[in-house]
Amino acid sequence: KRTAILISGRGSNMTALIAAASDPDFPAEIVGVISDKPDAAGLGVAIARGIPTKVVARADHPGKDAHDAAIDGALAGFGAELVALAGYMRLLTTPFVEKWQGRMINIHPALLPSFKGLDTHRRALEAGMRIHGCTVHFVTPAMDDGPIIAQAAVPVMLGDDEASLAARVLKAEHQIYPMALKLVAEGKARMEGGRTVLAGFA
Ligand code: GRF
Repeated sequence: KRTAILISGRGSNMTALIAAASDPDFPAEIVGVISDKPDAAGLGVAIARGIPTKVVARADHPGKDAHDAAIDGALAGFGAELVALAGYMRLLTTPFVEKWQGRMINIHPALLPSFKGLDTHRRALEAGMRIHGCTVHFVTPAMDDGPIIAQAAVPVMLGDDEASLAARVLKAEHQIYPMALKLVAEGKARMEGGRTVLAGFA
């Protein structure tokens, strides 16, 4: 499946997806990377890996709808069939999300439905959580709310701070995101009636 990745920053999850997809047996091919930030560090990484990139900056468009329409145009230009959000830090408009529903996935650095939104690691520490983790889910119009495809849990260690916990979660992100994209690309994880259906599971 032809897959495009949307980023806003560092792009370490993007890099993990590109690495997994470089295996010819992997069912998704990364056909392009789109960033809303012209200075996203991930753009350089994608270019170095020979992946086509495109900047679709919010400032170049009069409103959110026009911005998402431009992103949709860029996806069409890449011939994308699937979209993976990887640290894309902007909420997408409902028409765009509905158009891609079931074909667009996101990674979130918490065990959803806990800790939607930003600052997940700080909030998990403040809540005294003993485990934390990450979630890959289908994207629906509400933020961090779509049906879950894969999760990984990590322990919260004594003495953890935001940075140490984030690093432990990020490692798990890099493991489950390629796995989840594989499931979606080969049709083993599908979104049906607002739920995830996994092949081989009732
Ligand atoms: C990751 O923690 C991801 O879960 C969150 O933003 C961060 C992006 O990191 N949505 P990177 O750009 O993939 O390195």
